[in-house]
Amino acid sequence: MDRRGFVTSGMAAGVAGISGAGSAMATLLARTPGWSSGKTLPSGDIRLNSNENPLGLAPAAREALIEAIVDANRYPGNYVGPLLEELARYLDVQTENITLGFGSTEILQISTQAFQGPNTPLIIAAPTFEDVTDYQDTMPFEVEAIPLTADLQHDIGRMREASMRRPSLVYLCNPNNPTGTITSSRDIDAWISDAPETTTFLMDEAYLEYVTDDSFWPAMKWIEEKPNVIVIRTFSKIFAMAGLRLGYAVSHPTTARRLHEQTVQNSPNVLAGAAGVASLKDEGLVERAIAVNEESKAIVLQTCDELGLDVLPTNTNFLMHRINGDLATYRNRMADTGLLVGRDFPPMLDYNRLSFGLPSEMDRWAETIKDFRRKGWI
Ligand SMILES: Cc1ncc(COP(=O)(O)O)c(C=O)c1O
Repeated sequence: MDRRGFVTSGMAAGVAGISGAGSAMATLLARTPGWSSGKTLPSGDIRLNSNENPLGLAPAAREALIEAIVDANRYPGNYVGPLLEELARYLDVQTENITLGFGSTEILQISTQAFQGPNTPLIIAAPTFEDVTDYQDTMPFEVEAIPLTADLQHDIGRMREASMRRPSLVYLCNPNNPTGTITSSRDIDAWISDAPETTTFLMDEAYLEYVTDDSFWPAMKWIEEKPNVIVIRTFSKIFAMAGLRLGYAVSHPTTARRLHEQTVQNSPNVLAGAAGVASLKDEGLVERAIAVNEESKAIVLQTCDELGLDVLPTNTNFLMHRINGDLATYRNRMADTGLLVGRDFPPMLDYNRLSFGLPSEMDRWAETIKDFRRKGWI
């Protein structure tokens, strides 16, 4: 069976599984706009701008979520324990190493609260995922933004130099959002291995499962040896749970205790807990998501190649491609056809960031951008 056949039949099996559950809730969900896989919104627009997983929640997770609804009137304690256990098993760490959050966004916020201060600058790349700089408004701290190198890696040399002057919080997003590119793990390891304890590393690995470049490896290996390394992951991407909000940090237990002090009580919620456990137990889930992503990526790469549009090498579920014109105009024209793509990532305003949807959605994008070429718009 070819890959598209495999994916399609896998989805069909999931739909059959859930309606087989026969509950009124399953029937209700089946009628809900946007329930089926894909990014199509009730408006009919296709969302290719938020790096979401187009397959939708895994069938097993949908079922678990429906079952857990009866506990929605209870505090989530009974769900948090099993989630921690299952996650520890999945990651091959102890539950003491894990801090759960309301998405990895909460983890980024509490890490900032725990480790940032007026005399502790945040050292980040430019451009990178900007979330961690947002907390400046309520908690003043300096940000040193260091441009990516010409080959779109974090400039480890310059970031390291900036961190040597005083205690620092370093944010390394690998693979990097919005560029989709990899920074060599060997270079990062060399820095971590002899950095002082006063340099805290936030290693954001939101897109780890999509990586194909073997110069990347996870930073998890440092957590026992280095309490100043915090690995940040999410259920929003490969596990398709962005709307349920579940993320986590993995760190040395001492660091985890410091992070716990900052977390919101009674988080995560019952439904995120139930869906999280079911997703971790679904052995084919990661492979299915990667297969669809690879298929969609191939469509985009082939199309950009045909049109002679430069692309950045991606290790994620999105890529940046040149647009040969004004970015806002390009985006608006795409939106007029029902395709929501990209946003501004200065200074890279001659590139659009495109999130991968289902292969059929990328086929539609490909037809549209080819039409733009015929019109001389791209
Ligand atoms: C690099 C990176 N980190 C963290 C996040 C936030 O994810 P979450 O949904 O877990 O809050 C995103 C979301 O796009 C991201 O791209």
